[in-house]
Amino acid sequence: MTSTVPTRPARKAGVDLPVLGLGTWRTIDGIGPDRLADLLETARTVGAPLVDTAPVYSDAEARLARQLRADPSFFVATKIWDTDPAAVEAVFARQLAGYARSGIDLLQVHNLNGWRANLDWLDRQKAAGRVRFSGVTYQFDHAFGLGGSRADLAHVLAADLVDFVQVNMNAAEPDLAEDVLPAAAAAGIGVIVMRPFGEGALLASPPPDGFLRELGCASWPEALLRWVLAHPQVTTVLTATSRPEHFLANAAAVRGGPLGPAEAAAVAAHARSAPGARPGR
Ligand SMILES: NC(=O)c1ccc[n+]([C@@H]2O[C@H](COP(=O)([O-])OP(=O)(O)OC[C@H]3O[C@@H](n4cnc5c(N)ncnc54)[C@H](OP(=O)(O)O)[C@@H]3O)[C@@H](O)[C@H]2O)c1
Repeated sequence: MTSTVPTRPARKAGVDLPVLGLGTWRTIDGIGPDRLADLLETARTVGAPLVDTAPVYSDAEARLARQLRADPSFFVATKIWDTDPAAVEAVFARQLAGYARSGIDLLQVHNLNGWRANLDWLDRQKAAGRVRFSGVTYQFDHAFGLGGSRADLAHVLAADLVDFVQVNMNAAEPDLAEDVLPAAAAAGIGVIVMRPFGEGALLASPPPDGFLRELGCASWPEALLRWVLAHPQVTTVLTATSRPEHFLANAAAVRGGPLGPAEAAAVAAHARSAPGARPGR
């Protein structure tokens, strides 16, 4: 076991990223600035200074930007939601000003909204040095009829249009990304996994302690995270939390490394019997 969160390479981007990152949807807007600072300090200390947010996550991004202002040590992944070019420019200008940065590490087209025009725009921002890496996010079965389709996602990957793709994947839905992972790997596109706990819903039905002991896991969250890491194409898994101690536990969990095939199959079998996850953004 290593003492900090391990990293994995994102080949096309040419960077190594921590296998664990901090999601921010619906978890940081309700906590005070001291707790948020503590959460971010925990992420930094364990070697996972990577955050994922979006301008449409209530005031989460504004709060995050205030804490990370002029701090280049975090890898900041955020998103474009709008389709109107003037709105895209205005939101991006606010993001740069908020973080007090000349560029954003990873800017993702949220749920593939307006992806053709937004990816062209992103390429121009990359050329101008205002964005390091481009990406798209997509939620299987939860895309709200917005943005693009699964066929659009397949095209984006096959045509090698982005550096990263973010998709939902967890042990209760083990086959969701079965075509996305190999396509991304073939192009060296980094894969960021969202909703490893199904927004927490999967945590409501943990297996018995004896089951976890046989897997070599100390907790159900650990088993679910190590199930995600059993997919070698995955670069980073995001866990959203409002609690520093949960992020610390998640960091300890990923240090255990990927589950073996038999353990991963057992985790998926148990997770599928748990209540389904709710859609997210
Ligand atoms: N379309 C998109 O682009 C999109 C869509 C969905 C999500 N995302 C991104 O992916 C991130 C992660 O997904 P998610 O927020 O949907 O869900 P998630 O990470 O699957 O689950 C989050 C929930 O798990 C709980 N939790 C975390 N660690 C825990 C632990 N060790 N023990 C017990 N409970 C724990 C949190 O509660 P506590 O606060 O109590 O810890 C929170 O309620 C999002 O925040 C967002 O950044 C992107």
